[in-house]
Amino acid sequence: MVNTALQSHPIQKPSVSCTNAASPSLKALRRLSSAHRTSSGTLITIPFQPNARSRSVTSGLRHSATHSFKMPHPQSAGHTCLSESSACHPNDPIPREPLTTTQRRRSSTKQEHSPASSVQSLVYTSGSEQGSPRTTATEPHFDGAIEEKPLESVDQRQDDKPFVAPPSKPRKRRASTVLISQGPQDVRRILLPFKGAKTTEIEKFCCGGGCCFLNTLEQDPATKSGSPVIIPDNDAFRSLKLHLGPLSLDSELSQIVEIPPETVSFQPLSAAVPPIKSTVRQHPPSFVTPHPPYEVFSAKVHHARELTKPGAEKRTYHYDLDVTDYPSESGDVDFVVGGAIGVQAPNSDKAVEDIFDLLHIPKHVRDKQLVMNTISGRWPTIWGDDKARELVTTRRELLTWCSDVQSYPPTKSLLRLLAEYADAPNEKKILLYLSSAQGQAAFCDLRTGPHITLAQLLSAFPSSHPPLPRLLSTLNTLTPRFYSLSQDPQESCTREGTNCRRLIEVAVTVHETPNWRGGPRTGVGSGFLERIAKKVQEAEKDGIKATELDLRVPMFRGLMANPLAREFVSDGPMLLIGAGVGVAPFRGFVQRRLKSANCANKVWVLQGVRDSLLDELYSGEWGVEEEKVKKVVQSRRGEGRYVQEEVRHQADLVWYVINSLDGRVFVCGSSQGMGEGVERALVDVAMDKGTLRREEAEEFWAKKKEAGQYIAETW
Ligand SMILES: Cc1cc2nc3c(=O)[nH]c(=O)nc-3n(C[C@H](O)[C@H](O)[C@H](O)COP(=O)(O)OP(=O)(O)OC[C@H]3O[C@@H](n4cnc5c(N)ncnc54)[C@H](O)[C@@H]3O)c2cc1C
Ligand SMILES: NC(=O)c1ccc[n+]([C@@H]2O[C@H](COP(=O)([O-])OP(=O)(O)OC[C@H]3O[C@@H](n4cnc5c(N)ncnc54)[C@H](OP(=O)(O)O)[C@@H]3O)[C@@H](O)[C@H]2O)c1
Repeated sequence: MVNTALQSHPIQKPSVSCTNAASPSLKALRRLSSAHRTSSGTLITIPFQPNARSRSVTSGLRHSATHSFKMPHPQSAGHTCLSESSACHPNDPIPREPLTTTQRRRSSTKQEHSPASSVQSLVYTSGSEQGSPRTTATEPHFDGAIEEKPLESVDQRQDDKPFVAPPSKPRKRRASTVLISQGPQDVRRILLPFKGAKTTEIEKFCCGGGCCFLNTLEQDPATKSGSPVIIPDNDAFRSLKLHLGPLSLDSELSQIVEIPPETVSFQPLSAAVPPIKSTVRQHPPSFVTPHPPYEVFSAKVHHARELTKPGAEKRTYHYDLDVTDYPSESGDVDFVVGGAIGVQAPNSDKAVEDIFDLLHIPKHVRDKQLVMNTISGRWPTIWGDDKARELVTTRRELLTWCSDVQSYPPTKSLLRLLAEYADAPNEKKILLYLSSAQGQAAFCDLRTGPHITLAQLLSAFPSSHPPLPRLLSTLNTLTPRFYSLSQDPQESCTREGTNCRRLIEVAVTVHETPNWRGGPRTGVGSGFLERIAKKVQEAEKDGIKATELDLRVPMFRGLMANPLAREFVSDGPMLLIGAGVGVAPFRGFVQRRLKSANCANKVWVLQGVRDSLLDELYSGEWGVEEEKVKKVVQSRRGEGRYVQEEVRHQADLVWYVINSLDGRVFVCGSSQGMGEGVERALVDVAMDKGTLRREEAEEFWAKKKEAGQYIAETW
């Protein structure tokens, strides 16, 4: 719950005393500043500690500083121009930064990093600091900026009426770009240099609304009465909402993509090969090695519970995983604060069974062992060697653990393959159209529109039954999902009898979208973990403990050198800004800091939630007096604000932290708006407190990022 005491008590004075002299770069900036900007906003100082004196200090750093969580005058919230407060020096707003800032002293307790194996193959989010990893395309990609919540809309909720959760917003089309054209002519002109280019290269020009026409299909008077394409009469097809224009069976299509090569083949298992016991329901086959050269570890679920309350828009679960027997890896690495484990999640049994049924694969062969050969590539694992393979496996193992059947937008190659094996002429024509230049607009719509799974496509085109090896040659590899440790892994023992088990903790928010049948579709990783949590909940109702169930999570010590883990240090003030489950890693930060007595009053958390009654994660579980370190910002209750608005209101604190020796500002949460929103607020703070121009303020944060003092890990 939001602690209202926080809003009416003095902030505890940070016990740090920093002796700071202006750095050369800041000196230059200081010369640029003349007078401190004033603003019309009225600030109310909300001190932290009931008995602490609120006192005025000069520019945060030259004295031991006092910091306040301030609440703005309601009218002044969210503006780029910040208000002046008693805690900033009107004549000298640029804090003096220690000379040593750029060659920052690294804490001696800096953590070990895991081997680079998995890190090297990661791609980085544009909004994040270099070094922020993401799993391969498991997330929808938004290019367009998402607007911050308009204040007018939240102001309307400032009454005391009982809160009624607003209906969930309609899912936004995952438009892949902004509208850059007014019609087909404009698009043709833009795309001219890209003729023959791959879809991924031109996709960014498609607005997702049907404006992308490389070659439009002209209405052919001859075909009008000739052979119309009969639309497949099934719900799956209708759910695709395809715009087929004047497509007929006789329409000429050009630039149809090639049928994807067949790289996978099956042979019967020779009698000489001894059968292998399959663990398909619990653990991936041993050839799935997302953390080479190590095998995936089967972590026993010690406990799982829901962190959110019924009625929360998104469900979040907490997991305690037993890693007591996790094997040692080279380089003496360990789980570290801020690190993220990799989870090799399977496709659900239901998703796999549906595909078998749709492909008409007989039940008796689904689990039958066979020899699978690949001619090249990494599949059926990711980050393995690129080489030909011969493996003993089963069809179920491959579909369950190796291929992405639901979290990847359809590719032209896949549609082309389905066309090749479609018996019905109308289905074949539509699929060829989607793989052609003429169908580019419809294809772009399909890729950027609502979620589509392989089963949905096979249901939409029921006459197409590609052989499984061909399909496996074309589908993307199922990638592991990453989950940040939500605790300090050094403090991770539980005692049961005389056995001390080592546990790691993660918090997982369930990704859920509507499926074409009208029900929900959960994400591969979060859905798998939710199914586990539900089993625990069911068992507990019958008095059975989670540890008696032998539930397993296939995981590995994934990212222990990601930005959060890399830049966490055991000293220096830290401001931790997280929204949703993005706050989870910061619980570990706070826990670790607790161990160090001289670190009291050096950590502040801004936690963005929708409604603290429903989704304030880990409330009361931080191991500290939360009101002293944490400020909860609710987006859908009370004032209705986002964390970045609080960042602006905490300008003094932000400015103090970032200009302190070893001071750091960490940001974690969704890349879809939150990261950018917070960065904009930080820039505003620097403009106000440093009296900088926007470009200077942006440069200020860019330098802080480079120096490892501003760390954003958004996903
Ligand atoms: C370093 C790091 C740390 C992380 N830490 C955490 C953490 O602590 N807790 C946490 O909850 N998450 C965390 N994540 C995110 C996590 O790894 C997953 O991305 C997240 O759980 C979603 O994965 P999923 O398999 O459940 O969903 P997916 O199946 O990958 O789907 C993700 C979303 O994409 C959409 N989507 C997928 N496919 C399509 C399609 N074909 N068409 C349209 N839309 C589609 C779905 O709507 C869904 O909402 C972290 C990520 C990284 C990189
Ligand atoms: N190490 C990592 O990289 C890491 C670790 C953990 C989590 N994550 C990521 O963090 C994200 C957390 O997501 P979640 O699903 O739990 O919560 P979420 O959907 O991102 O929402 C959390 C809060 O953020 C608000 N919000 C929405 N848009 C915002 C914006 N533009 N600016 C600021 N706040 C905004 C929401 O408000 P409204 O709904 O009212 O608009 C809500 O109150 C996930 O994407 C997860 O993958 C990353």
